[in-house]
Amino acid sequence: MRAEVLLLALLVTACEAGPAKQLSEYPDSSSEAFNVYARNCSLCHAPPLPSMHTAIAWPNVIVRMQKHRLNRSMAPIATADIEVLRDYLVAHAGKGEEG
Ligand code: HEC
Repeated sequence: MRAEVLLLALLVTACEAGPAKQLSEYPDSSSEAFNVYARNCSLCHAPPLPSMHTAIAWPNVIVRMQKHRLNRSMAPIATADIEVLRDYLVAHAGKGEEG
């Protein structure tokens, strides 16, 4: 019984976090912009690859993540940081039709 509960907890955690990624999978991973992105977007789950969403879709995702922070009583991302990480995501965004 206990083991089942633990396994369920692990599955739920894995689901929200997604598979851990290698640093080398991220574009420009030695840039300051990437550092800003990683610093702000790795607190609750692994930072997703920029190719996961289109340039049009990213700003809305960022707004939603701000809400998650506020819901958890975390300070919002600084405006200057938002601009840097948004530019990073948009510059390397996916090209698909869906966001
Ligand atoms: C306060 C915790 C928290 C922080 C910090 C956070 N996220 Fe999230 N993120 C979540 C939660 C919770 C979910 C799952 C619910 C959802 O999708 O809104 C999620 C899901 C996601 C998803 C998958 C869902 C989708 O729309 O594709 C992406 C992509 C994402 N986050 C990107 C980011 C980015 C980019 C940042 C930094 C700006 C960030 N997250 C910072 C909590 C957080």
